[in-house]
Amino acid sequence: MFLSILLGGCITKGSFEAGDNTFLLNGEPFVIKAAELHYPRIPKEYWEHRIQATKALGMNTICLYVFWNYHEPEEGLYDFSGQKDIAAFCRLAQKHGMYVIVRPGPYVCAEWEMGGLPWWLLKKHGIGLREQNPYFMERTRLFMNEVGKQLASLQINHGGNIIMVQVENEYGAFGTDKPYVAAIRDIVKDAGFTGIPLFQCDWNSNFENNALEDLVWTINFGTGANIDDQFRRLKELRPNAPLMCSEFWSGWFDHWGANHETRSAESLVAGLKEMLDQNISFSLYMTHGGTSFGHWGGANFPNFSPTCTSYDYDAPIGESGNITPKYHEVRNLLKNYLPEGQILPEVPDSIPTIHIPAFALTETALLFDNLSEAKQSENIQSMEFFDQGWGSILYRTALDVSDEEQTLIITEAHDWAQVFLDGEKIATLSRLKGEGTVKLPPLKEGAQLDILVEAMGRMNFGKGIYDWKGITEKVEIQNGKETKELKNWQIYSIPVDYAFVKNKQFKKEANTTNHPAYYKGTFMLDEVGDTFFDMTNWSKGMVWVNGCTIGRYWEIGPQQTLYMPGCWLKKGENEIIILDMASPSKPETQGLRKPILDMLRGHGAYAHRKLGEILNLREETPVFQSAFKSGNGWQHVEFGKEIEARFFCLEALTSHGGDDYAAIAELELLGEDGKKVSRQHWKVIYADSEELDDANHVATNIFDLQESTFWYTNYSSSHPTYPHHIVIDLGEDRKITGFSYLPRAEANKPGMIKDYKIFIKTTPFILK
Ligand code: GLA
Ligand code: CA
Repeated sequence: MFLSILLGGCITKGSFEAGDNTFLLNGEPFVIKAAELHYPRIPKEYWEHRIQATKALGMNTICLYVFWNYHEPEEGLYDFSGQKDIAAFCRLAQKHGMYVIVRPGPYVCAEWEMGGLPWWLLKKHGIGLREQNPYFMERTRLFMNEVGKQLASLQINHGGNIIMVQVENEYGAFGTDKPYVAAIRDIVKDAGFTGIPLFQCDWNSNFENNALEDLVWTINFGTGANIDDQFRRLKELRPNAPLMCSEFWSGWFDHWGANHETRSAESLVAGLKEMLDQNISFSLYMTHGGTSFGHWGGANFPNFSPTCTSYDYDAPIGESGNITPKYHEVRNLLKNYLPEGQILPEVPDSIPTIHIPAFALTETALLFDNLSEAKQSENIQSMEFFDQGWGSILYRTALDVSDEEQTLIITEAHDWAQVFLDGEKIATLSRLKGEGTVKLPPLKEGAQLDILVEAMGRMNFGKGIYDWKGITEKVEIQNGKETKELKNWQIYSIPVDYAFVKNKQFKKEANTTNHPAYYKGTFMLDEVGDTFFDMTNWSKGMVWVNGCTIGRYWEIGPQQTLYMPGCWLKKGENEIIILDMASPSKPETQGLRKPILDMLRGHGAYAHRKLGEILNLREETPVFQSAFKSGNGWQHVEFGKEIEARFFCLEALTSHGGDDYAAIAELELLGEDGKKVSRQHWKVIYADSEELDDANHVATNIFDLQESTFWYTNYSSSHPTYPHHIVIDLGEDRKITGFSYLPRAEANKPGMIKDYKIFIKTTPFILK
């Protein structure tokens, strides 16, 4: 072991290891207080500001992911320069006396496009992601070696500040495959990460599935969780291991078309205190979320649910680096846990904000008048096969004459499609709502069909990481007699690169109503500063300012402004281009001093109970009835028989606390072999009540694979009372032998179901 030599704040060669019930930094007990930050979500010019803000908060470490797709935009083309210079980021942290934990993937999740995996992997037919597929493993190894070249020399034993490196990410939430996780561990080691502990992070419910003996194990959970419960199993298995919550969720991320997420400062501070008092290390995910600029935001799975551009996360340091009240509450706690004699540095000033008065974008270029050259393709294919990663794609073909109405069936449009007939829009289809069919009017010979598909983020979770964009399979036309697949397409790629955007034929006057178009304008500045572009006049699309891709917007909200870092603005004239997919109410914007992140103007998906709908169980007989135990953690129920199932209904009759509410964090059904059945095609058919006004307690939370999110019945003053019901369509016929239920993770909270009945059928339940 190296001896520690700390000279005037500058760190020389040292050591970091997992000791007896504690981590050891240079041989001394050390509690990691890590701030999760993501370098691509912060303009490089502001990295230092954010690092200083975490230090002044009372943290001693920065925890970061390495985003593979950010560094290898094309196969074999690596980029670690400028905004992507991870080594520079780590050195900057070191300059401020901060240690670094690196989580290099290959998969990272993080609500990032495809969980950090490069889209071009999807060009390979038969690709297997996050498994021992030779091509996947080979590309992973090559990438990890590049990461090693950047960072291995910055490990603490070489005089740097990197103290731990993570292997894969929450693999237990994806599968059980120890050989794969072991292979990734070896790749990480071969890349040069040998001087410090390697660790794997998972949930307490599944960390054993892939746990490797020679790695440190850490647990992820959110604020409010029952902390004793979270570490119980790990302590049983490794009574002498140091404990760490490797992701303590300070808030949560936002989805388009769902309420803005918040988590209380009070429960955050209480959780941190509880851990600090027991010397439990933690990383606060996120301490500063920042922004998923450009096309980098991901989407959730199984119900496709794209995430907003803002990754504010309700974190202590706001999206633009602003210091929030939550920050001060956390700081007031952390200042009591400093090494002897240390005091916290001053909180850095927030970056000044500016107001930009409203201005019009006066030049327009219709998207259809500005297409690049077409590619011909007999069959429909997703955009990856036309070598396109992001943006929109237009599929064009000619239709046969028809006197009658027909139906167009698109399988599947990822993610937001507009259908035009002879240049006029006839339908909009949203993947969030599962829409895929369009009624066609009678057609004259050769009518031109255009299907314009806008890709949102690729899913970053579970099996959703296989998320081809554009139209993934086929387009058919159906009339009374037959269904025919449409062939012979002209394909137009509409990428997001500024180089593609700027060369459009902009005109002063053009009628853009109901047509996708680019809008260009300029604005003058006497002084620069951070601002938030007001997108409330605009429908859906993307914004570029001075050549930087700012991000996606969508009128449904909840996010209505886009964060514009002042460091990308300049004194004098600035250029803004907006691609609006439907057409704005008024082609105007302004720069606001404060963001609008919580103005929901439309739901992305449908609610799970239609007006007046009531579940009728009068004619039904329960297949099982019992009572759940009180307390947190998974409960497993076996029926003692096999039941043919397609539709599953849980009727909750009473609660443990005597309150009126029902909550379920996760629900799994067990098949003939006692193993969990796939939830990939599940749909919630009915939930008697959901809390959607105050928070996102949507019923699909019971199978969103996230243990910290839950279905919760409405808790307004006029809330419904027991019984509560949830009905699921499994999407396939299955034999079911039992189920597993996870209550919400917080101790002593309402909504803990006690008595219940289970109904299972092969035909739909009656709803009237
Ligand atoms: C998990 C992942 C993170 C992030 C959070 C939710 O814990 O490991 O990357 O996706 O969930 O924000
Ligand atoms: Ca959940």
